[in-house]
Amino acid sequence: MGKGIAILGSTGCIGRQALQVIESLGERFQVLALAAGRNIDLLEEQVRRYHPRLAVVLDEDKARRLKERLSGLRVEVAAGEAGLIRAATFQGVDLVFAAMVGVKSLPAVLAAIQEGKNIALANKEILVAAGTLVMEEARKHGVHIIPVDSEHSAIFQCLGQGGKVKKITITASGGPFRELSREEMDKVTPEMALAHPNWRMGRRISIDSATLMNKGFEVIEARHLFDLDYEQIEVLVHPQSVIHGLVTYADGSTFAHLSYPDMRLPIQYAFTWPERLDNPAVPFLELATLGQLTFERPDGQRFPCLGMALEAGRQGGTLPAVLNAADEVAVELFLQGRIKFTAIPRLIEETLDRHEKVKDPTLEDIWEADAWARRQVWSLVEGKKG
Ligand SMILES: NC(=O)c1ccc[n+]([C@@H]2O[C@H](COP(=O)([O-])OP(=O)(O)OC[C@H]3O[C@@H](n4cnc5c(N)ncnc54)[C@H](OP(=O)(O)O)[C@@H]3O)[C@@H](O)[C@H]2O)c1
Repeated sequence: MGKGIAILGSTGCIGRQALQVIESLGERFQVLALAAGRNIDLLEEQVRRYHPRLAVVLDEDKARRLKERLSGLRVEVAAGEAGLIRAATFQGVDLVFAAMVGVKSLPAVLAAIQEGKNIALANKEILVAAGTLVMEEARKHGVHIIPVDSEHSAIFQCLGQGGKVKKITITASGGPFRELSREEMDKVTPEMALAHPNWRMGRRISIDSATLMNKGFEVIEARHLFDLDYEQIEVLVHPQSVIHGLVTYADGSTFAHLSYPDMRLPIQYAFTWPERLDNPAVPFLELATLGQLTFERPDGQRFPCLGMALEAGRQGGTLPAVLNAADEVAVELFLQGRIKFTAIPRLIEETLDRHEKVKDPTLEDIWEADAWARRQVWSLVEGKKG
């Protein structure tokens, strides 16, 4: 019997690749639970192909429809956040692969940790909003949080070389607008922002990559995962996306992780860690054909989201939860064509400025801050229309 796996967000870009990787690894893994947001067509296909014992849909109506479609199969169908918790704590699950977007699966991830299940974490917003709580619980229950984000997987793989870590470096492709002026950015459309040069990703992370908010989230994520100070985390723009992360030790030695940009590599490593197995899906790197690897510092003027995220991370408390929630709403408004691309950082900044931070937040404080930030962004947008 293979290692039991639950995938939260199996219908997403990362979740679909996680299932491909599991399939390529044969009998080693057994999919026990799959959870989706609303895409029951794809979830139905996945259930028929991977035979989980539990299928969860966040949307209650859609869960009912899926149940009808799957009647006759030996699979339980559950709905909503209670269903997600059931998936994350399902009997026999050893590893929960968290690949939803946003913070909806935070209670499920916490429940899994409390039951001693290891977490493979792609869903970075969870650590942005509640990193201190999640890592405290993980330490208390002796649970490993294995990073799936390519940069964090890279750093995870470069750590442990002995001696003190001086700093880590997270690279950023710079997104599709790396070379645009602020004036040009005023005119970008959702279609332009969704076309990332190096990675194919879900809608929110594509926009977060275009604003560099994603990189800010990743710094906060790294601070929690690796227990570092913000001063020890550097961001470098590296348009080729071949070096994903670097660790510099106290003696001046720097270790880097290189590969072509392909999420199937960090996904596989999260499943097989601490082992390293063949990965026929990912081509071997040929440096000679790549020619040059280049690096530059991010431009904080044109990409204010990065600095904003770092400041929210440094100040801590409920600010990172507000940052995440305000960003989620602003990104959605941009995707709906209701605000300009350049309004995203403005709305987030105004929301952060108005927030009265709670210093050592409980989970309830985090939910309150999240809900407050969503209302705040809406009221700013509505107010500006009038
Ligand atoms: N894509 C990448 O290359 C990449 C790389 C590193 C990290 N990540 C991180 O991995 C996570 C997933 O990214 P993705 O690109 O796979 O996103 P995605 O393609 O948009 O998939 C998101 C998944 O979450 C579900 N979902 C939709 N709405 C939701 C909601 N309100 N609450 C909770 N879940 C919801 C979706 O279900 P339905 O489709 O069924 O509605 C889907 O299964 C994100 O945190 C992202 O930052 C992604």
